Amino acid sequence: MDKSIEDIKDEALKAIDAADDRQAVEAVSTRYIGRKGVITQFLRNLSNLPKEDRPGAGKRANQVKELLQKAITDALSAIDARAAGDIEIDVSLPGRSAQRGYLHPVTQVTHQICDIFRRLGFDIAEGPEVETDYYNFQALNFPKDHPARDMQDTFFVSDTVVLRTHTSPLQIRTMEKYKPPLRIIMPGKVFRCDSDLTHTPMFNQVEGLMVDEHISLGDLKGILTVFVHEMFDEQTGLRFRPSFFPFTEPSAEVDILCVICRGEGCRVCSHSGWLEILGSGMVHPALFENVGYEADRYTGFAFGMGVERIAMLKYGIDDIRKFFENDMRFLGQF
Ligand code: DAH
Repeated sequence: MDKSIEDIKDEALKAIDAADDRQAVEAVSTRYIGRKGVITQFLRNLSNLPKEDRPGAGKRANQVKELLQKAITDALSAIDARAAGDIEIDVSLPGRSAQRGYLHPVTQVTHQICDIFRRLGFDIAEGPEVETDYYNFQALNFPKDHPARDMQDTFFVSDTVVLRTHTSPLQIRTMEKYKPPLRIIMPGKVFRCDSDLTHTPMFNQVEGLMVDEHISLGDLKGILTVFVHEMFDEQTGLRFRPSFFPFTEPSAEVDILCVICRGEGCRVCSHSGWLEILGSGMVHPALFENVGYEADRYTGFAFGMGVERIAMLKYGIDDIRKFFENDMRFLGQF
């Protein structure tokens, strides 16, 4: 007899272990415990042993046969269970929770801004991101070759087509479409060839426009004061600082009291106590003429603000590029 029963057992168990489908397990079964299998062979050869050894060896061979039979049955049911997909569930593992989606912080702030104006009776309008020179500049009273065009680092698509540098062209588009009275808020992406801590080549603006008879600078101040108090808080003071835009006259930039130091002066406000948040003014009569409104009958105000800038001030973010790096550790905080 060449192999001991213990060697046969070890070999068979290894083979059962290695078999990974029913067919392979059944082949092992036939080979070891089948009618012509290794164990049957072993029992048959018992007669070659000395007489006194035979009962012990026979008994052990039958035990091994039973043990293999059980290992084979177990292996088969494990294979069936795996196929049914209900094996190897470790109930002690923590669950995998579904990740909930949410809006990008810039989108959230855009919605907050629009909501405030919607409550003040403004409608929402949108328009194309690729604009003609006419809407982006000319109709807004930027004369051809005027240095004011250099205020905006324009991406040109062709000589007469640009990526809009601001949402102000929507003033022209909405006035061409609707007659006064008009109260419209216009959010959208804008593009400028500029990139640093506070500038990205694409950013978002919200434009506002109100036109009717008898609209005054007082209306502009009133509406923007409500906006700032709603967006930040009632303690946030604001001031109108004279400025220049071709499409408004007079023009003003609006500053808010520094949200960090409340006017004391700090690094964020460059020790001025104030933070610029938007441009505004009374609609220049040339725009009304360009859209066919009666320039001596109507007046209006307009304003434009950068959404990322508002978001940075509201949440104390010091680098605008964080909004666009898609780092979930940053975005997940909003
Ligand atoms: N379009 C200007 C810019 O992007 C912002 C602006 C200033 C918009 C004054 C206005 C306005 O509507 O009245 O810099």
